[in-house]
Amino acid sequence: MSGNTFNERTDRTGTNSLKWDYRKEVFGREDILPMWVADADWPTAPSVVDAIVDRAKHGVFGYTKTGDHADRLVINWLENRYGWDVDREWLVYTNGVIPSLSMAIRAFTHSGEGVVLQPPVYYPFYEVVNKSGAKVVKNVLHLDQGRYTMDFEDLVDQCVNSSKALPIKPEPKIMLLCNPHNPVGRVWTKQELTKLSDICVKNDILLISDDIHAEFVYGDNKYTPVPALGEEISDNSITLISPSKAFNTAGLPAAVTVIPNKKIRKTFQDTSSKLLGSPSIFGLEALKAAYSEGNEWLDSQLSYLKQNIDYTVQTVNNEIPGVHAIEPEGTMLVWLDFRGLKLNEEELEDLLVGEAKVGLDLGRWFGTGGEGFARINVACSRETLKEGLLRIKRAVRDISCS
Ligand SMILES: Cc1ncc(COP(=O)(O)O)c(C=O)c1O
Repeated sequence: MSGNTFNERTDRTGTNSLKWDYRKEVFGREDILPMWVADADWPTAPSVVDAIVDRAKHGVFGYTKTGDHADRLVINWLENRYGWDVDREWLVYTNGVIPSLSMAIRAFTHSGEGVVLQPPVYYPFYEVVNKSGAKVVKNVLHLDQGRYTMDFEDLVDQCVNSSKALPIKPEPKIMLLCNPHNPVGRVWTKQELTKLSDICVKNDILLISDDIHAEFVYGDNKYTPVPALGEEISDNSITLISPSKAFNTAGLPAAVTVIPNKKIRKTFQDTSSKLLGSPSIFGLEALKAAYSEGNEWLDSQLSYLKQNIDYTVQTVNNEIPGVHAIEPEGTMLVWLDFRGLKLNEEELEDLLVGEAKVGLDLGRWFGTGGEGFARINVACSRETLKEGLLRIKRAVRDISCS
C-alpha cells in the first residue's frame, strides 16, 4: 500500500458521513472544512474491503457468532503488536467501545456512585457516566510546560475525602482511563499507569481503560495495556479495544472488552446479556481482516499521520502567533492551545467557525481544562490539512490586525 491513498482526497459527501454531511447540524453552516470527529478521510485497508466484499457476495446474513478464529486473531494482534499476553476466555465481543463502557458503568456502580474522569477528556464519557446513573468525579490533568500529566495527589485526596472527610461527595467506584488520551495525546508510561493502578487497587476502584487509540503511537512512546502491569492490577481491570479507529471502520462496529477477572467478567456478561449487541457480520469480517492482514497498511498509515502531525505542530507553532500545538505522543488528534489570543469561548468559536470556517472539536466540549483549546483531527489528506491550517492562520492574522 503506497502512501498515496492517504494523500488523495476522497469525496465523502453524500455518504451519510457524520463529519462531512452533518456540518450544518453541528456547526450551523455548510461551508466549513470539517476536521473534527475522529475518523479518517481515507479508505480502510484493501484487505478489509476485500473481506467485506467477499462476505457480502455470499448473500446470507443470518445470526452470527464470533468464534475461535477471531479469538486467535485478537490474541495474536495483541501479542505481536504490544507483547500483551491475553487468555481467550478474557475476551467479550461487543458492538462498540462506548456501548461497552455504558454497560460496565451500569454493572459496577450503584446510582449516585462516582466514576473518575481525567478532563479535558473525550466528551461522550460524561454522557456515558451521567446516563448510567453514576456521577462524574473529576481528576483534572495538569498541563506543565506543554505536557499533560496525571494529578495523583488529587486522586488520592478524592478517594480519601469521599469515603471519610466529605461523605456527600460521590464515592469513586470506577476510574475511566483513556490510554492513549483523547484529546491531549499522551501515551501514558508504564510508571504512570502503575501508580494509577496501585491507587485504584488500594482504594477498591475498578480501572476501566479505553484503549481504542492504542495503535496510534509515535516515536519512542510505547502503548502499555493496564493488565500487563501485574496480576493484581490485571484482576482489577477492564480494557476496551477495537480495530475501528486504527482501520477507520467506525461504521462497522466491533469491539473487544478484555476482562481478566472471572467474577468481573461474569457480572459484565450477566448485565449486558440481551442488552449489548455483538459485532455485525461486517464488523466481524473487518476485525478479522484487520487483525490478520492489516499490519503493513497500518504502519504506512502511521507514517503518513506522523508527517501530518509534524506538519501541524510546525505550522501552528512557527506561523500562527498566539496559538500553540501540543505535540501528541499518540492518537490522530492535535490539541491546539488558543489561549494566547485572549478570546472568550464565544469569540473562539466565532474565530474558528465564523471566520476560519473550519470545524474543529471545541475544547470546552471536553470539560474542565478544555476552555481556550480546540482539537484538530489530522487523519486527512495533506491538502485538506494545509487548507485547514491556512484558514486558521488567515483568521488569526485578521483578528490580530483588526
Ligand atoms: C477515546 C474514544 N473512545 C471511544 C470512541 C468510540 O468508540 P465506539 O465507536 O467503538 O463506540 C472514540 C471515538 O472517537 C474515542 O476517541
